[in-house]
Amino acid sequence: MEKETISIVDNRTGKSCEAPLFKGALRAMDLRQFKTHTDDFGMMTYDPAFMNTASCQSAVTFIDGDKGILRYRGYPIEQLAEHCTFLEVSYLILFGELPTAAQLAEWTNKITHHTMLIETSKKFLEGFRYDAHPMGMFISSVAALSTIYPEARNVRSPEVRALQIQRLIGKVPTIAAYTYRHSLGYPYIYPDNDLSYTENFMNMLWKMVEPKYHANPVLSKALDVLFILHADHEQNCSTNVMRAVGSSEADPYVCTAAAAAALSGPLHGGANEEVLRMLDEIGSKDNVPGYIERVKTGRIKLMGFGHRIYKNYDPRAKIIKWAADRVFEITGRNPKLEIALELERIALQDDYFVKRKLYPNVDFYSGIIYQALGFQPDMFTVLFAIPRTVGWLAQWEEMLRDPEQKIARPRQIYTGNECRNWVPIEKRTTPSTAAA
Ligand code: CMC
Repeated sequence: MEKETISIVDNRTGKSCEAPLFKGALRAMDLRQFKTHTDDFGMMTYDPAFMNTASCQSAVTFIDGDKGILRYRGYPIEQLAEHCTFLEVSYLILFGELPTAAQLAEWTNKITHHTMLIETSKKFLEGFRYDAHPMGMFISSVAALSTIYPEARNVRSPEVRALQIQRLIGKVPTIAAYTYRHSLGYPYIYPDNDLSYTENFMNMLWKMVEPKYHANPVLSKALDVLFILHADHEQNCSTNVMRAVGSSEADPYVCTAAAAAALSGPLHGGANEEVLRMLDEIGSKDNVPGYIERVKTGRIKLMGFGHRIYKNYDPRAKIIKWAADRVFEITGRNPKLEIALELERIALQDDYFVKRKLYPNVDFYSGIIYQALGFQPDMFTVLFAIPRTVGWLAQWEEMLRDPEQKIARPRQIYTGNECRNWVPIEKRTTPSTAAA
C-alpha cells in the first residue's frame, strides 16, 4: 500500500521530517517544526488568494474543474436542474439528502411561513434614495434583520440556527422584491402563501392591481432552474467570507450580509451585471472582433469569461443556455444574445483564450435571461444572492459543527520597517508612510 506521507528536507538546516498527509493534503501546521534557530516562529505556507490552500473540509458541493463537473451532495447539477424544485435542492444542500414527499411538504411549509418582513423593514427601505443600487439595499436590509432577531446571536444552539436558516431563506426573496419595487417607486407586495417559492417571488416583483398573481409556468420554471444553478459553489469568495465572518460567532444575518457584499464585486456575482454593460458597449455583432482585440491587450476583461476552478467549461453555463431557449419562446429572443454568441464563438477559437483556458461562466448568459424576464442589470446580482443564501447557510452550519474550525485568522509575511524610534514633528524631514 502506498505510504500517505511526505518527506521534506529543510536545506537551510539539513533537518528532514516525514509528515503525514491528510486526505492527500499537507497540514500547514506540520511545517512549523522547520526552524533556523530556537526562537524562530517556524515555517509557514504563503498562498495569496488561496490558490492552493484548502481552508476546510466540506461535504456540500463537489467540483471537478477540468472535467466540468458540479454536484450538490453527490447529485449532478444537470439531474437536479431537470427534476427538482429549488426548495427541494435547498433541503438537499442543507441536510445532505433529497427530501421525501412528507419532508418536502414540511420544509416548504416552514419556509413559506417565514417570507413576511416585519413592517418597519419597509420604512427602512424608504430611507434609500430612489436610485439606490438594489444590491446595496439588499445587503443593508439583510444585515438589519440582525436587529429584529437578537436571539440569532446564540449561534451555538442548533435550534436557534435552524430557525434563522428558515427565516433567511424565506425572507431574502421578499427583501429582493422590495428593493426592486423601491427602485420603481411601486408599492410593496406582501408574500402569497398559495404560491411556490419562485412564483411568490414573481408575485412580489410584478403583481399590480390584479387580485391574484398568476406566474407564467415556463418563466417560473426557468427562474427556479437559475436558482438551483446558483445555490452553492463550494469555497468561492463570498462563501469564504461567510465562513470567515461566521467563525467569529457573529449572527447569521450579518454573516449573510457580508457574504452578499463579497458577491457584489464585478469579479464575482457582480459579473452578470457587467456582462450586460459590456454587451451594450459592444452594441452589435460587427464590433465583436475589435472588442476581442482590446481584451487581448490586457487592458479590459471579457466579463463572464474565466473561472478559478473551471478550466474546461462551466456546466452551469450549458444549462443556462437551455433555460434561455425556453424563456425566449415566451419573451422573444433578447437581441444581446447574438452578440454574446458571437463573442463566445470568436473567443473559443482565439489562442489568447484557449491558452488561458477561458470559457463562458455562469454569469455570461444569466443576465441575458434576466433581462428577457424584465430585470434591469442592477438587479442581476440580487437574483444571484437569493439562491446563494442557501449555500452560504449550509457552509456556515457545517463550519460551526466542525470541531477543527476556529476563528479564521490567516498569517502574514511582514514586509514593513524594523523597530524604529518616534521622532518629534519638528525634526521630521519626510512624511512617514504609515501603513493602514
Ligand atoms: N478576460 C480576459 N482575460 C482574462 C479573463 C477575462 N475574463 N479572466 C482571466 N483572464 C486572463 C488573466 O489576465 C490572466 O492572464 P495572464 O496569465 O496573461 O496574466 C489569466 O487569464 C489567468 O487569470 P487570473 O486572473 O489569474 O485567474 P483567476 O483565477 O485569478 O480569476 C476570475 C478568475 C473569474 C476572477 C477571472 O477569470 C475574471 O476576472 N473573469 C471576469 C469576471 C467574471 O466573469 N467573474 C465571474 C466568475 S464565475 C461566477 C462567480 O464566481 O461569481
